[in-house]
Amino acid sequence: MKNLTIIGAQWGDEGKGKIVDYLSNNYDVVLRFQGGHNAGHTIIVDNKKFILSILPSGLIRNKLCIIGSNVVIDPIHFVNEIKLLKKKKINISNSNLKIANNASILLPFHSIIDKIREKNLSKKKIGTTGRGIGPCYEDKVARRGLKIYDLEDLENLRFRLKNLINFHNIFIKKLSKKNIISFNENFKLLKSLRKKILSYSVDVSEFVNSKNFSKKKLLFEGAQGLMLDIDHGTYPYVTSSNTLPAVAPLSLGLKPSKIGHILGIVKAYTTRVGEGPFPSEIKNNLGLKIAKIGREFGSVTGRPRRCGWFDAVQCKKAINISGIDSLALTKIDVLDNLKKIKICNKYKLKNKILDQMPTSNNDLKRVKPQYLTLDGWNEDTSKIKKLKFLPLKARRFISTIEKLLGVPITFLSNGPDRSNIIKLKKFF
Ligand code: GDP
Ligand code: IMO
Ligand code: MG
Repeated sequence: MKNLTIIGAQWGDEGKGKIVDYLSNNYDVVLRFQGGHNAGHTIIVDNKKFILSILPSGLIRNKLCIIGSNVVIDPIHFVNEIKLLKKKKINISNSNLKIANNASILLPFHSIIDKIREKNLSKKKIGTTGRGIGPCYEDKVARRGLKIYDLEDLENLRFRLKNLINFHNIFIKKLSKKNIISFNENFKLLKSLRKKILSYSVDVSEFVNSKNFSKKKLLFEGAQGLMLDIDHGTYPYVTSSNTLPAVAPLSLGLKPSKIGHILGIVKAYTTRVGEGPFPSEIKNNLGLKIAKIGREFGSVTGRPRRCGWFDAVQCKKAINISGIDSLALTKIDVLDNLKKIKICNKYKLKNKILDQMPTSNNDLKRVKPQYLTLDGWNEDTSKIKKLKFLPLKARRFISTIEKLLGVPITFLSNGPDRSNIIKLKKFF
């Protein structure tokens, strides 16, 4: 059996957590490879709800879980998320959870900087989660950020932290005097948490390339969605990491061929949180109705998610940039009561019909979506366990998407619970 990489193929919140949880049963290790606690992955098992932001979803099934070097880790959040899950009887210790010792550390001032910037940008804001993700990745790329291994030696930590804070205070002083970053507070914080954090840390590449690891079946868990990728997404309205599956082996220090099968997760419609172009957005009451039925509120910030029709032009781009082999289509049940269901199959820009999603943000915000309209099925699909019981019109919806995208849909999700899933095709 091949390894598996699971990624979101829209703008996030496609149901990755649910599918990772469902499929992780067949794998030995779940590895989170990018992003930070901007993610919110929801898993529901027998009415028990878990939301994971920084921790890999495989913990719910007690799998060995690893956080890779490309992840930015807020130590306070990390410790709190572990506490919350432990309260819900999830087993977590340093024997089933490891973090790369070269992952980056996200500090409280990253979040303050994120929020100050968003406030000052007003109309040009990105609509970030406010969790400091952008500023932390900036520090990493600028080579002044802290890595987990910097916690090992207090003198080194003092030196690197001072350097980092001095840099930021030059700018903060100009923007907001009350937010000047205190070295003492941050040093105290890291000193108090460092032993706990270090107890989970490993040389990740050595760990995953070791002899007794070579037979293990790996499931890589992506966060955010492909349209939020810093290079290929709808820049500048993106997150600050690469969300592509190619980052999985990079983040873990593994051979690229270990990615295995790439499973893209797509909703039967589209959602987006925050600002930025969204061609198939439904800006009337129907959009609000879908949001209400689909409970489309951000799992991290609680913000309402913008809703739109399924966009095959956008998904084709996602497939191209990532190498998706098959898809899981989620939240089909949310469309159960619609008379007509639309699928965007082309864009129009001025008088030109486009089959491909333009790269430039300027073009993307001006395109007009072109739609196929299908009849709704008007039946409750949420109790169905097999494809043959699915209404014909729902099957037509699925096959239309498959035809437009040229990629098989292997799983259908028809409810939030772990058990709400229909296997459509042989996976691989
Ligand atoms: P992720 O970030 O991709 O893991 O997705 P989120 O957890 O942020 O958002 C997906 C939301 O949809 C969560 O509230 C899930 O419980 C819910 N969900 C997942 N799959 C389905 C489904 O097939 N039907 C319904 N109704 N809800 C679903
Ligand atoms: P999961 O893993 C949906 C969005 C934010 C904002 C942009 C930049 O649950 O799918 P950031 O805080 O990353 O600098 O914000 O990216 N965003 C997400 N949207 N789901 C997510 O994660 C997201 N993580 C970031 O709303 O538009
Ligand atoms: Mg989410």
